[in-house]
Amino acid sequence: PHPHLLRVPPSQLRLHNKRTSAWSALGGKVYNITPYLPFHPGGERELMKAAGRDGTKLFMEIHPWVNWDTMLGECLIGMAVDEGAVGA
Ligand code: HEM
Repeated sequence: PHPHLLRVPPSQLRLHNKRTSAWSALGGKVYNITPYLPFHPGGERELMKAAGRDGTKLFMEIHPWVNWDTMLGECLIGMAVDEGAVGA
C-alpha cells in the first residue's frame, strides 16, 4: 500500500462522524469528506449519513453514476481494514 495512506479499522472510522471531522469509507477507501460537505449537491445532511461509516451502499442507492474516486481524489486518506488488522 501507499506509505502515506492510513489503515483505518471501523473503530477509528466511527470517531470521525462529525461535521468538523467527517470520514467515510467508499469501495474500501477512506476519504476525509469534511471539505466536500458544503459542496455536495445533495446537501450536508444527506452526506453526513455516510460519515463515520461505510457509505458505499447509500451512495450506490442514490447516484451510482457519480464517480467518487475522481471527485474525492484529494480527500483520500487511507484504506479500510478489518478491526485488529492495523499493524498486521
Ligand atoms: C447528489 C456527490 C454521497 C445523497 C449528488 C451529486 C453529486 C454527489 C455529484 C449530483 C449528481 C447528479 O446531479 O447527477 C456525492 C459524493 C459523495 C456523495 C462525492 C461521497 C462522499 C452521498 C450520500 C448520500 C447522498 C452518502 C445520501 C445518504 C445525494 C442526494 C443527491 C445527491 C439525495 C440528489 C440531490 C438532488 O438532485 O436534489 N451527490 N454524493 N450523496 N447526493 Fe450525493
